[in-house]
Amino acid sequence: MLDIGCDVLSARQFDRNDLARLAEVAERLEPISRGEMVCRVLEGAVMANLFFEPSTRTRISFGTAFARLGGAVLDTSGLETTSIVKGESLADTARVVSGYADVIVVRHPTPEAAKIIASAALVPVINAGDGEAEHPTQALTDFYTIAKELKARGKEIDGSTIVILGDLRYGRTTHSLIALMSVFEDISFRLVSPEALAMPDAYAEIARQNGHTVKIARTLEEGLAGADVIYATRYQSERFQIDPQVRDAAEKLRLDRTNFRAYAPEDAVILHPLPRDEVFGELATDIDPLPNLAVFRQTDNGVPVRMALFALILGIADSYQDHVRAPAWPLRRRPANP
Ligand code: NCD
Repeated sequence: MLDIGCDVLSARQFDRNDLARLAEVAERLEPISRGEMVCRVLEGAVMANLFFEPSTRTRISFGTAFARLGGAVLDTSGLETTSIVKGESLADTARVVSGYADVIVVRHPTPEAAKIIASAALVPVINAGDGEAEHPTQALTDFYTIAKELKARGKEIDGSTIVILGDLRYGRTTHSLIALMSVFEDISFRLVSPEALAMPDAYAEIARQNGHTVKIARTLEEGLAGADVIYATRYQSERFQIDPQVRDAAEKLRLDRTNFRAYAPEDAVILHPLPRDEVFGELATDIDPLPNLAVFRQTDNGVPVRMALFALILGIADSYQDHVRAPAWPLRRRPANP
């Protein structure tokens, strides 16, 4: 479901039509997302960006998306700066903030926090990550990126092989990704992780129930063969104690240029929701010069996708076009590397 006024709490709420509509709107909004055109359709609207966990991309891309459509953004980051430290409940906070803002974006360390906030708020609530559970808007960005990258290679999502690699137990983006991609047909999911960090069965089951193949692999050789997409993720060291056994297993699964070249097809797309962990190094930087690495195209896509989400939820997915004009200031961005 992706209707006017709806909350976005889980990747499980979307069907294939929702994704097609979102991608179509996001594509149209791309020039505005890059500042090549200016749009003030949300002038007067206010978004509350409530971040109770660290964030760079998600918080800023949500803020940018709302601002590029002409709305104002109010940011709160960290529990310590809010009345939660005075003992206020999430429900009270949600009700209060929803009296000030037209939409709430929330990231919180507790699974289900977004749901609690949504049930108390008077305005739509978007889950920007709820603990180790889900991160639905990252999955929407990942879907949009996968669709574009595969299209550029003459391929489709239906029938593709998607490898999900790293911390599949605590990595919430992987949970939302497998749920979201399960709306397509005939996907071969390959789950590659240390045994202790396997994907919770509830998420793998969504794929199986929708008729997809789910294979578990414990080596890169087995995991990367035939991959169309390789989605690497960070070991969530803030959520669990990494013991030496897990560390060893994780080191063997570190994706670098050598094992990518050895085991993956030449045109495989490499994605990662970022941040990548410099210390643990699940995705080595020697891979950066390869055109396969799409992680910065993926981060860029976070803005038009979130703009499209706002446009659909706030009911301006078509009417925004009456509010678009050329910018009064010159663009100063340098060209990106491929
Ligand atoms: C992820 C997150 O916060 O879940 N990052 C993101 O939002 N792009 C992934 C992570 O922290 O590893």
